This record gives sequence, structure tokens and C-alpha cells, in this order.
Amino acid sequence: MYISKSTEHTERLANKIGVRIKSGGIVCLYGDLGSGKTIFTKGIAEALNIEKFSIKSPTYTYIRHYKKDRFNFYHIDLYRLEEIDELMLKEIEELIENGKNIIVIEWADRMKDNLPEKRIDVSLEYLDENARKIEIND
Ligand SMILES: Nc1ncnc2c1ncn2[C@@H]1O[C@H](COP(=O)(O)OP(=O)(O)O)[C@@H](O)[C@H]1O
Ligand SMILES: [Mg+2]
Repeated sequence: MYISKSTEHTERLANKIGVRIKSGGIVCLYGDLGSGKTIFTKGIAEALNIEKFSIKSPTYTYIRHYKKDRFNFYHIDLYRLEEIDELMLKEIEELIENGKNIIVIEWADRMKDNLPEKRIDVSLEYLDENARKIEIND
């Protein structure tokens, strides 16, 4: 368990997770709006040499794809979805099946029955303006 004292602190914690999943993996992010899930995603992306400023909450789509020479990075945000239908689940499951893909899912609890066992769970909680409690389980 960590207490992050700043946005940068959260990004540094996320950098370490990014390094760990360089050859493929899935990170599930949990926590309310403003708890820092997108900031955490930026930190993961940074460790993968993806321009962190290009990471933003997917607005018109729920999956954003970042293609690099050696890997594919997918940033999924399930927040805006009214409901997650079979087609979306199928699409996400296909991405997960490819073990080389690097996948980050915000609001992963919304598809909790369909998450793979092999994953890293990160729960973020708002403590005060600049502090967040961050729990990492794998
Ligand atoms: N310790 C911290 N960790 C992460 N974000 C923080 C922290 N302190 C303040 N913030 C701010 O909280 C907001 C988190 O927003 P965001 O990552 O978009 O949340 P979410 O994706 O969970 O809705 C950002 O504006 C960020 O600058
Ligand atoms: Mg977000």
C-alpha cells in the first residue's frame, strides 16, 4: 500500500508497473472519478516510451490504441458505457488473449466477471486534494 502525495508520485509508481509489463500484460484500475486512474495510465505509458501527453480519457470511444514498433498498447475506459454488451466484451477478450498486448483498463470492475486471472490490480482512493491511497495486487 502506498500513499501518493502528488500527481508525479503516482506517475512514478505507475512507471514501475509499466516496466514490469513491457513484454505484455494487463493492468486493471479501480477507483472513483478523480482518484488518478488516467494519471496512473500516463505513468505506465511513459515507461513504455509512449508520449504521456497523448494519453487522455477516451471520449468518443472506449478503446485507444497506441502502436509502437514492438508492441501494441491499449487504453480502455469503461466509464462512459451505459452497458457493456457482448460485442465489446468479445473485442476486449480478443485483445487480452494476445499475451503480447499491453492493456490498461479504467473502471475494470465493470467487467469483473470477464477479467483474466493473470493481471495486476491497482485500486486508487482519494484522500485529499493531493493525496491518494494506492494498492497494487498481482
Ligand atoms: N497524488 C495524486 N495522484 C494522482 N492524481 C492526483 C494526485 N493529486 C492530485 N491529483 C489530481 O487528481 C486528478 C486525477 O484525475 P484522473 O487521473 O483523470 O482521475 P480518474 O481517471 O481516476 O478519473 C488529476 O487532476 C491529478 O492532477
Ligand atoms: Mg480516467
